[in-house]
Amino acid sequence: MNRALVLPYDATAIAEAARLIAEAKPVAMPTETVYGLAADATRGEAVAAIYAAKGRPSFNPLIVHVLDLAAAEALAELPAGARKLAGTFWPGPLTIVAPLRTDAPIAALATAGLPTVALRSPAHPAMRDLLRACGKPLAAPSANASGTISPTQAGHVLRSLGRSIDLIVDGGPTSVGLESTIVAVDGHGLRILRPGPITADQLADASGLPVAVGVSGTIEAPGQLAQHYAPSKPVRLDAVEAREGEWLIGFGPVAGNVSLSPSGDLSEAAVRLFELLHEADMKGAARIAFAPIPETGLGVAINDRLRRAAA
Ligand code: TXA
Ligand code: MG
Repeated sequence: MNRALVLPYDATAIAEAARLIAEAKPVAMPTETVYGLAADATRGEAVAAIYAAKGRPSFNPLIVHVLDLAAAEALAELPAGARKLAGTFWPGPLTIVAPLRTDAPIAALATAGLPTVALRSPAHPAMRDLLRACGKPLAAPSANASGTISPTQAGHVLRSLGRSIDLIVDGGPTSVGLESTIVAVDGHGLRILRPGPITADQLADASGLPVAVGVSGTIEAPGQLAQHYAPSKPVRLDAVEAREGEWLIGFGPVAGNVSLSPSGDLSEAAVRLFELLHEADMKGAARIAFAPIPETGLGVAINDRLRRAAA
């Protein structure tokens, strides 16, 4: 049985979507590429709700949607090449990966703890209206259950996520239908991380910079991403008490030195995971131990991350 309400795109639908976003709930929205599952990127619990709805087995970093270049510059240090690309292709199907500003109010869960952030200014009027109505950057992966095909119509979203979200704004079929090109920009050149609607030639022409092409779309795939947030110390899992020299991160009945969630709430644990890992790395203790986390719901993603950290 579906619980999601499907509303045609109009002012009423946008007002309802903004109300749910303010409650930290994810909403399915049309963009020009694919339908996205949008939530407030500044709140960890809102981002956790995206992963929960999609049933994602791991925390991939998400694309953060903004209204324009000014909003992007408040969140990331954009090199000149990135500003040129934004000037040419925004709003539109281009995502730019650049260093996150240290003071940016982005939840660590949205970037999966990375020091960079993926930013896109979407062209679709519905997503733009919602960005204006919320006044917040919106994290939005494709609005489909993990491991299934990206949705290009409201009906696709309804079949995939109808039971796990509250609202789908129906803007008709998407115009691009293919997820945005993702490009990483540094002082030297561009790297295409995911090929998409904006081609390598277009990127080279607009930026005047060399473009690394033919690279796999998964340069920063989860296996490699693990290195970014693997702590520098040994990690032991399924610990019910601390051994000598260990900093124990608890959950539920295992109190530990700190706890992912004293009440055993997996959403809260997901929100705190990267933060507590960073903190544990900076403590005096030589090793880190984690209490057992149930392998259900968001616990599957948390355990995936923990196994990588312990590997
Ligand atoms: O067209 C699109 O881009 C759609 C619509 C909804 O806007 N969104 C989308 O988002 O495809 P998402 O969250 O599924 O894309 C996530 C991908 C990750 O798998 C990763 O490849 C890349 O974006 N990514 C995100 N943050 C990154 C980062 N900091 N560094 C490198 N890659 C990153
Ligand atoms: Mg996707």
